[in-house]
Amino acid sequence: MVDQNRLSITDQRTGAQYEVPIVDGTIRAMDLRKIKATPDDFGLMTYDPAFLNTSSCRSAITYIDGDAGILRYRGYPIEELAEKCSFLEVSWLLLNGELPNPNELSEWTGLIKRHTMLHETTKKFLEGYRYDAHPMGMLISTIAALSTVYPEAKNVFDADNRKLQIARLIAKMPTICAYCYRHHFGLPYVYPDNDLNFTENFMNMMWKMFEPKYLANPILSRALDILFILHADHEQNCSTNTMRCVGSAQGDPYVGCSAAAAALYGPLHGGANEEVLKMLDQIGSKDRVAGFIHQVKEGGGKLMGFGHRVYKNYDPRARIIKWAAEQVFTVTGYNKKIEIALELERIALEDDYFVKRKLYPNVDFYSGIIYEAMGFRPDLFTVLFAIPRVVGWLAQWQEMLLDPEQKIARPRQIYTGHGERHVVPMADRHVSGIGDD
Ligand code: CMC
Repeated sequence: MVDQNRLSITDQRTGAQYEVPIVDGTIRAMDLRKIKATPDDFGLMTYDPAFLNTSSCRSAITYIDGDAGILRYRGYPIEELAEKCSFLEVSWLLLNGELPNPNELSEWTGLIKRHTMLHETTKKFLEGYRYDAHPMGMLISTIAALSTVYPEAKNVFDADNRKLQIARLIAKMPTICAYCYRHHFGLPYVYPDNDLNFTENFMNMMWKMFEPKYLANPILSRALDILFILHADHEQNCSTNTMRCVGSAQGDPYVGCSAAAAALYGPLHGGANEEVLKMLDQIGSKDRVAGFIHQVKEGGGKLMGFGHRVYKNYDPRARIIKWAAEQVFTVTGYNKKIEIALELERIALEDDYFVKRKLYPNVDFYSGIIYEAMGFRPDLFTVLFAIPRVVGWLAQWQEMLLDPEQKIARPRQIYTGHGERHVVPMADRHVSGIGDD
């Protein structure tokens, strides 16, 4: 019987035939190495800029079906997790593979609460920034600075040590974010309040003023918790790939998360939520939406918060965020930018340009509108994305470390530069063309 789970390849250069196994819908790139034009040939490689069609790992954490608009963490639909679980429950799930039982959740919550404080020297480090420093720059460097506070974190193959550093990172992210915000206004830092839950405490550190005890609005703290659940992981996206890549060199999780946060900062990734708000401000009113869309189609920029490498359908997170926005508005009042956003979505979803390219709203399209209504400044939006995403980075990092198939991440290249040449003495060098207009 013919084994159908294999690919038969004929190399027309040599006429040689090869059989390559197909496993889980993929072939192994290394199986192509045996295909050689001459005996001393290096062997065939694949070329895949931007990883459009390459699986870099096996992962049991997050499942996405981009055509059907499905997102699941450890098998659970994102809609169910957003409705029935808290962010800390979901964090445990992503890290450990199962939902926590009551004892596990209480122990996990206690562990996170124990690690919310920053070392006073880290607080001083944050004080050194200019008042108008972008919070993402502050966040990226502060996470890296934690590596100096916890040097034992480099023992990445010690399971207990890993657990401790993971808890520290998750617990300290809201504290760093709140400190970045208060630094801008010259407000005194607010220390964590362990009577409060994860998002309430974050809101306390952000906004507490003179009141003896900060009381978060429960609708707003729950909406924030849901937003954190939605952003917690998204399989092999740009920042997670960075985390895995840096982690593959066996550096500590602080430097890995700092690099991942740097990847997140870009406007095509997590920086898009801030860009969406700038775009809505630039459009200004509902009646100017059609003109803006026309401009995008003519090549005058992108519609920020639209399109996705994997989703070719409505991003399921955007649908939940739209629902959460309605809840938030019952407390904060209507953010009139939602009208512009809804009109943008309506026109774009009917327009041939967007339909043909399967461009739908992504998670960043509506999140900024909620964040702004809640009182967050646009330059904090990407930091708000990073707070929960650190959980995904850490879950993926741990999975990578324990995967016996993984090694240091080191892609190949197709060299397109000069062949060997030799240095010309300075006096004989003439115009290079570099720097000419
Ligand atoms: N507005 C207008 N046209 C777009 C957009 C957009 N937002 N996104 C993609 N296109 C066009 C693109 O110009 C290309 O057209 P053509 O085929 O004529 O050259 C086509 O659609 C395919 O786009 P692509 O650039 O090949 O797609 P990609 O998978 O490389 O990029 C993306 C995905 C998310 C970077 C891109 O859609 C984009 O830049 N979107 C805006 C930024 C954004 O919202 N980013 C957040 C992503 S979701 C959350 C996250 O990752 O943090």
